Amino acid sequence: MSIEVSRMTVEDIPGVVQCVQDAFEDDPYFRWVFDPVKFSKQRNTISIRNRCLWGLNNGLFYVARERIPQHNGKDVSEKSPSYRVVGVSMWLPPETPDHSGSWTSRFQDWLLSVRQLITNIQFMGHGGLLVHRYWIWKDSQLKATQKFWTDPRGYYHCNVVAVLPGMHGQGIGKRLVQVVTDQADKEGIKCYLESSKAEPNVKIYERLGFRFVGDLDCNDNGILCKLYCMTRDPKPSTSDKAE
Ligand SMILES: CC(C)(COP(=O)(O)OP(=O)(O)OC[C@H]1O[C@@H](n2cnc3c(N)ncnc32)[C@H](O)[C@@H]1OP(=O)(O)O)[C@@H](O)C(=O)NCCC(=O)NCCS
Repeated sequence: MSIEVSRMTVEDIPGVVQCVQDAFEDDPYFRWVFDPVKFSKQRNTISIRNRCLWGLNNGLFYVARERIPQHNGKDVSEKSPSYRVVGVSMWLPPETPDHSGSWTSRFQDWLLSVRQLITNIQFMGHGGLLVHRYWIWKDSQLKATQKFWTDPRGYYHCNVVAVLPGMHGQGIGKRLVQVVTDQADKEGIKCYLESSKAEPNVKIYERLGFRFVGDLDCNDNGILCKLYCMTRDPKPSTSDKAE
């Protein structure tokens, strides 16, 4: 199996959408924040694509690409796909508390809002997204980060890691996380993530240097979704060790 991990490009976006949708199909947060009866996969596809377009300029979005074996061991013609996306990680760079953002980043945020608004108009709604629950999560997340983000230099925030269900346990998730934690180690910056599954994800992230710091409870009148907050301290980077 030949897998390469690199920054996401526009061409990767359809594969990224597929990967996220497949990996999160049974995810507890996903099931809490979407109404299964009204869920529109088509609208969800466009919404994730909008987020990916934003991520190209504003986030650290990585993909794991698996090379598709070619006939006679040769690469296919340029027009045929030579790889498929088997994993994705979506990270946000660290922000300091006084961060107000550059004009460019504010423009990009505005562009994302406009794209999402157009998507809502096109689909005459949020495609099953329970908007009030989304805001319950955002509010709980703000409280959690105020509590757990103690480092004024900010945190690399891992928003999403997803590996195609058939490809779990082969080291792909690890590489999609390490590509940013290695950078964080070099810069001496901490990392943060929220997992909606205790099992097996907390153990998996512990293997990658994260430790559980507390729960994040999203409570919609007694209908709960619990997320597990984890942080990671920087380790001495390999280049430091060599010196
Ligand atoms: C979480 C997820 C990204 C992990 O990716 P993965 O490719 O399966 O994980 P890896 O194979 O790279 O394993 C990473 C480490 O965890 C360990 N690990 C993997 N599966 C494990 C399990 N079920 N129990 C305990 N440890 C496990 C591996 O041994 C490895 O540690 P090591 O290198 O020290 O041996 C993947 O399972 C996934 O996409 N899940 C669905 C979506 C999701 O829940 N995403 C996270 C929320 S944002």
